Amino acid sequence: MVLVTGVNGQLGYDIVKELDKRGIDSKGIDIQDLDLTNKTDVINFITDLKPTCVIHCAGYTQVDKAEIEDGETKKCFDINYRGTEYIAIACKDLDIKMVYISTDYVFDGTKTGEYEISDNVNPLSKYGMSKMQGERAILEHLNKYFIIRTSWLFGLNGNNFINTMINLGKEKEVIDVVFDQLGSPTYTVDLACLICDVVETNKYGIYHATNEGFCSWADLAKKVLEIKNISCKINPISSKEYKSVTIRPLNSRLSKRSLESGGFSLLPNWEDAVKRYLLSKDQRKEV
Ligand SMILES: NC(=O)c1ccc[n+]([C@@H]2O[C@H](COP(=O)([O-])OP(=O)(O)OC[C@H]3O[C@@H](n4cnc5c(N)ncnc54)[C@H](OP(=O)(O)O)[C@@H]3O)[C@@H](O)[C@H]2O)c1
Repeated sequence: MVLVTGVNGQLGYDIVKELDKRGIDSKGIDIQDLDLTNKTDVINFITDLKPTCVIHCAGYTQVDKAEIEDGETKKCFDINYRGTEYIAIACKDLDIKMVYISTDYVFDGTKTGEYEISDNVNPLSKYGMSKMQGERAILEHLNKYFIIRTSWLFGLNGNNFINTMINLGKEKEVIDVVFDQLGSPTYTVDLACLICDVVETNKYGIYHATNEGFCSWADLAKKVLEIKNISCKINPISSKEYKSVTIRPLNSRLSKRSLESGGFSLLPNWEDAVKRYLLSKDQRKEV
């Protein structure tokens, strides 16, 4: 049985659905089942359950909040670093595989071109630092690990940038959106499928996994409003003009070389993924 953390979030929800589709027994949990910041609880829970693998999708994902409030910063590190470490210790004791979902925010974005897995990490934000420490905890404790760095997630079970743009687009005539941060929007349905492929192998290591192609937040907003036929205009602004407490990497493009050399299929293009996501959202509303 595969244990999936963060089942109430975007990615965890789709992982459980994908495992189910493949006939693989799974148990999805979230904070109401197990608080990952309690070491004893985490180790006892996993040791008693004896899963064959843990896919760890839970995380503290409120990037701006982690930056400004002391208590929240600590919470971010407790969940993303310590919580990950506790799971890793339990996986080591049981000698089982663990998947950790990491982020493009471990990089500083100063590189021109795509980030390789061999590139140095240098996070700019508290969230990025906490995820980097989560990665280090995995490397310290485990051999049977998959660290999957992804970016700009959107999925049916949760809130994301695309939903925000649709809501704002219906209310406003113009929305200011950043044009100078580049990355790859990634649909959790596509990523879940790839993660399930990867975890069936013993090709352990670090992978970058996103939908193909890249764009800016402004490009993504424009595409969403175009598909949804919303007449609101996007006003492209620079990161400097956008008042944010978090410094985000300007270049988040991740090279998929490690996926390709592992023989895994690359994910579809991000524009195709956005179209499928919006279609599924509409179909869900109709039911
Ligand atoms: N979203 C992105 O754009 C993005 C990009 C790159 C990487 N990632 C990484 O990908 C993973 C999945 O992202 P996502 O967007 O699916 O996240 P999400 O929707 O925010 O879901 C995360 C889940 O983890 C739960 N959680 C938080 N604290 C917990 C705790 N102490 N114990 C147990 N569960 C806890 C959350 O519960 P509450 O909602 O109640 O807090 C939530 O249900 C995360 O590790 C994230 O860091 C995300």
